Amino acid sequence: MSPALRFVLAAAAALSLSQAALGADLAAGKEKAAQVCGACHGPTGDKPTQPDYPILAGQWPDYLERALHDYKSGKRKNPIMNGMAAALSDQDIDNVAAWFASQPSPLHSER
Ligand code: HEC
Repeated sequence: MSPALRFVLAAAAALSLSQAALGADLAAGKEKAAQVCGACHGPTGDKPTQPDYPILAGQWPDYLERALHDYKSGKRKNPIMNGMAAALSDQDIDNVAAWFASQPSPLHSER
């Protein structure tokens, strides 16, 4: 393979990766978060209403996606979240994960 062709293929792969990341709809994620998730995690995921409800704001998006897919498939078990995730489409999962990940988080400490 010529170096030029290799470059073109690498650029195309990078582009499709960034498009996958951009495939999330933040506005839709925000809406879903406000309607459903906010009651427990807080609308921006930074103020859970119970101490044992996790903070989602500022978490890695792929971590959140993974957790939601695992709840949906039943691989990760929690009576509340198995039900919540079952009602989410793959697109919903991308959207809410991107939304919560984009929010300022109390998980990061100032140094
Ligand atoms: C009725 C309360 C409630 C609602 C509503 C709720 N959650 Fe949860 N969520 C929980 C609890 C409790 C846990 C911890 C479960 C566990 O220990 O696995 C959790 C865990 C999670 C986790 C895993 C976090 C981690 O650090 O591993 C994610 C991601 C998550 N919820 C996303 C959502 C999303 C997205 C929605 C809305 C579609 C939502 N939750 C709605 C109570 C709720």
